[in-house]
This record gives sequence, C-alpha cells and structure tokens, in this order.
Amino acid sequence: MSNLVLIADDDDSLRHILAATLEKAGYETLKTRDGAETLACVKETNVDVILLDIWLGDANGLELIENIQQYNSTASIIIITAHGTTQTAIDAAKQRAYGYLTKPIDQKQLLDLVSRAAAATNQTKTVKTSTSPDFDRHGKMVGQSSAMQEVYLKIGRAAVSDETVLVLGESGTGKELVAQLIHQNSRRVHNPFVVVDCGAMPSSLIESALFGHVKGAYTDAHSARKGKFQQADSGTIFLDEIAELPIEVQMKLLRVLQEREVEPMGGTETHAVDVRIIAATNRRLEAAIAQKSFREDLYYRLNVIPISLPPLRERKEDIPELVDLFTRQFVEEYQLPEIGISTEVVKQLTTYDWPGNVRELENAIKRALVMCSGQMLLPEHFDPILEKPTPLSEPGDLNTQVHAMLQAHIEQYMESDAPLGELYAEIREVFEKPLFKIVLEHTNGNRSKASDILGINRNTLHTKLVEYQLVS
Ligand SMILES: Nc1ncnc2c1ncn2[C@@H]1O[C@H](COP(=O)(O)OP(=O)(O)OP(=O)(O)O)[C@@H](O)[C@H]1O
Ligand SMILES: [Mg+2]
Repeated sequence: MSNLVLIADDDDSLRHILAATLEKAGYETLKTRDGAETLACVKETNVDVILLDIWLGDANGLELIENIQQYNSTASIIIITAHGTTQTAIDAAKQRAYGYLTKPIDQKQLLDLVSRAAAATNQTKTVKTSTSPDFDRHGKMVGQSSAMQEVYLKIGRAAVSDETVLVLGESGTGKELVAQLIHQNSRRVHNPFVVVDCGAMPSSLIESALFGHVKGAYTDAHSARKGKFQQADSGTIFLDEIAELPIEVQMKLLRVLQEREVEPMGGTETHAVDVRIIAATNRRLEAAIAQKSFREDLYYRLNVIPISLPPLRERKEDIPELVDLFTRQFVEEYQLPEIGISTEVVKQLTTYDWPGNVRELENAIKRALVMCSGQMLLPEHFDPILEKPTPLSEPGDLNTQVHAMLQAHIEQYMESDAPLGELYAEIREVFEKPLFKIVLEHTNGNRSKASDILGINRNTLHTKLVEYQLVS
C-alpha cells in the first residue's frame, strides 16, 4: 500500500514539482494552498506524511502544526523553510516535526526524508493500535520547557526505531522514566522490560547476572541460571549506571551488542537474544574513557541514539507542573484530603536549585504533605530546603553533593572581598587535604599503600603531604 503525502505550500509551482517527484517515486499525493485548506484535508483524510511550508499564506506555521497534530497524531510532519525564516520559528517547529527541508529543495533529500518519515508513521501506527486507546504518548512525564520538548521528540523517535539508546543526565533527572517510556511506546511493549543496576552488584556477580551461568560454573552454581539478557528476550533491557560496569564485563557486553547472542558463564554454547538495549549513566563517559575505565568501542556501540536529560535548574519553568503532578499523585496514593499549594511555595520552590533534580523535588513534596496538617502547603512544610539556599541532598550521591557545595562556595567567593585568582587553589586544597588524610588513616600512615590506592605517584603524594602539613 502506498503512503499518502500531503503537500501544503502556497507556492503553486513548487507544489506541483514536489507532487510530480513524489508520485514518480510511488507515493499518492494531496495538495493544499493555505492553513484552512490544510486543516480541512487533515481532518478528512488520513495522511501519512505532511510537507508543510512554515509560512503558509494565512496561517501561523506553529499553531498550524499543533492543530494538525490534534486531528492526526501519527502523521510525520516535514517542515519546509525558506530563506528569511527566523531561527526561533524553525527551532520551535522542528521540535514538533519529524524533519525539515530548506528551499531550494534537493530532490534526493526530499525522497530520502519522505521515505524515512513514512516508515516512522507506519511504525507508530502499528504501535498505537497495539496499545490501549487512551495511551498517552508521554506517559506521566511532564514539563513543557523546550529542553523537555526535545526529549519527548527523541523518545518518540527512539521508540519507533529499534536502536540502542544511551540516556545521559544527572541523578534524579528521569533517566529510568525515559527508558520505560521508550519501551512502552515501542513494538516490544507487551514483552519484558528488565532493569539491571550495574552499580548495585558486586563485580563478581554481575557477569552471571547479565549472561547467566551453567551448572557448576563456579563453587555456588548448583544449578544453571538464565541471565537478564535471556530474561529480556523479545523485550527491552535497561542497563542503569553503565559506567560502573567492570571493564572485563564490558568486553562481554560489547560482544552481545555485536553478535546478539550470549554465552553463559562456564559454558561453551551461545544463545541468540533479541533485545533492545537502553543504557544510562550520570557520569561523563568521555572522562571514564580517558581514564581507561570505560571501553571506547563499547561507548560508540551504545551511543547510537543519545538522549540527554537537562538538570531541573536549567528548566525551572517545569517546576510548577511537576509540583502539581506530584501533589496530586501523593494525595491519591496516601488518600489525603484535597490540598492547595500557596503561590509563595511555588515561587520559592522555583528559586531553589534542586541539585537532586526531579527526584529531590518529588521527595520534598512527599515530606511536605506528611508535615502538613491543614489544607494548604506552606513554605514551612518544606523546611529545611527553603531555609538554606542550597543544602546537601540525600547522602550517597557524591556528585550531587559536591556540586551543591561548590555552587554555594563559589557564590560566596564571588560576593566576598577575597582576592581574585585563588579559587582553584583553595578548592583543590579543600578536597585534597581531607582526601589524603582519610586515605592515610586507612593505611595506618603507609604512604606507599596510600599512593597505590589514590593512583598517584609517591613523590607527588609526599610533596602534597608536606604542602598541606600532613607530615613534617
Ligand atoms: N519529567 C518528569 N515528569 C514526571 N516525573 C518525573 C520526571 N522526571 C523524573 N520524574 C520522576 O522523578 C523520579 C526520578 O526519576 P528517575 O528514577 O527516572 O531518575 P534517574 O535519572 O534514573 O535518577 P538516578 O540517577 O538517581 O537513578 C521518578 O520518580 C520519576 O518518575
Ligand atoms: Mg535511575
């Protein structure tokens, strides 16, 4: 069955050229000249791809996209832009569109993009019909900031493809939620979604957990066990905290990615697996690669579709909506009476920097609801968060805590009269001094052991210890 392409452009000759090119390539086409005609056409026919001139006579291109998507949420929209279109308009349109073409339109590019767009539509249609009718494309992920709009678009694209996805973002930004949404919107939705936290397992166990083992593979292996990859067969596996994966296991994972088969520990047989892989990390993998703790070839294999989640402090406009979502969620979950939120609270929550991101906000709301006995959430229910500008978040997340501490300190430094140019030395000392002190305590003062643990040269360590007056 051929796909139906709607060409919405007010330029008569361009409209005809595009139609002729597409028809020759086997598509059916429809043509419209302005916003009203286009909307009418979208309402009446089920088009697959829409080529949409962003300035279409009477219509505002952006509003038009929104209206079109209300009537037809599966069609892929390709924006046509001309010289002189402002960048902001293009950017905004791109967030809702499948792709874009710039005039003058190159024939090969046109056919290539339309064919990919049509394939995406066909996929989305299959996914849609196989899920419940009231299925919400974005699940319960909220936030209308442009950074999040881009994330939603990427989730949609990742869902229709079957490629490996790498989700990046600070702790608490929603990486696992993204992985779930991709799975739920993919053709694998009715098959398993298996989560593996690569950071939570001792390295001796992770290999057998991932790939399984045969009976007698090691002392305690009394019976054979299937690994997570085989459990996830035909579904999706979510490899969380991928940077923590021991380097020996990385090699094995790379093989699975290349060969699509696993070899349980202690065995010689391999088993084919059909699994979509989604990996996530809050670490900078480039740094881990430079330190040789992460394989570069594995990184490239994982980084096919990267999705970066912005920290909450960079999209504060999303905070009110998140506050509202979490309040409603917990009121229902704990069966609390309806509760209001003072505007003062929302304002204050928006000024805070949320080093623990959405998870911290979620926990703060939970705590506030427990503290609150009246019908209104007030600033005092959010103590101590709204007391101090940037407190430490949950213990255990060193990155987040260090970030918060540094931020507070740097702000203080800039505001103070302290001489400029001392920040780096000062921060370095703040971190290095206790680090060396604690490690030395652990090694009972043995400097050679300490330098081994730290991974720094013994002479360097000695110089620093003298500099920080930790030894004489
Ligand atoms: N945009 C969002 N809309 C609604 N809920 C969100 C959003 N982002 C995150 N959450 C919620 O915040 C919490 C933290 O998200 P998630 O566990 O996915 O983060 P993470 O990046 O995996 O964090 P960590 O690195 O700490 O594991 C979850 O309860 C999740 O449902
Ligand atoms: Mg997580």
